[in-house]
Amino acid sequence: GDVILPDRFGRPLRDLRISVMDRCNFRCPYCMPESTYHEHFRFLDPKERLNFGEIERVARIAASLGVSKLRLTGGEPLLRPSLPDLITPLIAIAGIDDVALTTNGVLLARHAHALKDAGLHRVTVSLDSVDPMVFAQLSGGRAQLDAVLQGIEAARDAQFPGGVKINAVIQRGVNDEGVLDLLAMFRETGVVVRFIEYMDVGNRNGWVRDQVVTSRELHDRIAARWPLEAMEARYRGEVATRYRYRDGAGEIGFISSVSAPFCGDCSRARLSSEGQLYTCLFATTGTDLRTLLRESADDKALHDMLARIWRARGDRYSEERAAPRAPRPHEKIEMHYIGG
Ligand code: GTP
Ligand code: 5AD
Ligand code: SF4
Ligand code: SF4
Repeated sequence: GDVILPDRFGRPLRDLRISVMDRCNFRCPYCMPESTYHEHFRFLDPKERLNFGEIERVARIAASLGVSKLRLTGGEPLLRPSLPDLITPLIAIAGIDDVALTTNGVLLARHAHALKDAGLHRVTVSLDSVDPMVFAQLSGGRAQLDAVLQGIEAARDAQFPGGVKINAVIQRGVNDEGVLDLLAMFRETGVVVRFIEYMDVGNRNGWVRDQVVTSRELHDRIAARWPLEAMEARYRGEVATRYRYRDGAGEIGFISSVSAPFCGDCSRARLSSEGQLYTCLFATTGTDLRTLLRESADDKALHDMLARIWRARGDRYSEERAAPRAPRPHEKIEMHYIGG
């Protein structure tokens, strides 16, 4: 459709990612290392988080500016009480045709059917390994693999119209040896597994480029076992490059945020659980929408503020990172706070 609201590079606003909870029940070393997120870490107070009415209002105004796709994230969104009560009003917003959830899956068995009944279109589970030991280490010792596998089963059973996906972040020397096992578990199930190149999000994961396993390398390793063929992108700006197994066992994807940045088509805005709006995953500053939400009943003021922020947007961090001698921004926003 038409670009209602172009940013400085002509990119429309189509996708709003909403973090509903800054807390998480995992301590993945690359996202919320225990050393920082210990029992004395100060998470938001419930009153500091946007309430469901406030989230719905932002989503409705974003929809009027072109957003058609919403994704609920965290931290861990299923730690937010009564989450299904947020989904029903979100799917009712005119112009919204896709509402997805990103979860670590550990509470999914408990909530999958209620989420489906509330109208959620699809679920993406973050799962980096199906080796119980590696998994335990990657969750920071907080969870058992079996609970997540049961969550995925429950989500399949609930039959979300948009299906179930798995996102796996691959780090060299950590979980890269388990890639074929992960795929073997989900071939023939209809669950689409996507591999994400490990990125330098946040400030605490000590990212070094050597840890990144490129999509090309993974593709070649996988194709040597199960021949693959490329698929067409479903829409312009699709983040994952899609492949299917030649033997008909299903579809997989690669998200090449480091080796092939996709900022050129990036139409994503991010809303933190305390109501800061960010125009890039790697932003260092956001805009406080909560104050306006709480002080003004006037939708026009919010509409104008969102439009102003998007029009001024010039973010393209992943492309800049790829440039030689790219400057490193300081104090990026943390992933658990903005969602990913
Ligand atoms: P589908 O609509 O199901 O294709 O998913 P999506 O495009 O919304 O992707 P998803 O939310 O599953 O994102 C998967 C991962 O890709 C995220 O966890 C990030 O690691 C990465 N990613 C998603 N969006 C961006 C982005 O805007 N910039 C960068 N650099 N990485 C992103
Ligand atoms: N690089 C790539 N993906 C990441 N995620 C968290 N940290 C990183 C990182 N450094 C992913 C999670 C989850 C999603 C919300 O973001 O593994 O799939
Ligand atoms: Fe791990 Fe996701 Fe929780 Fe971060 S938010 S610690 S990536 S489960
Ligand atoms: Fe979008 Fe920023 Fe990611 Fe580029 S780095 S794709 S601009 S969120």
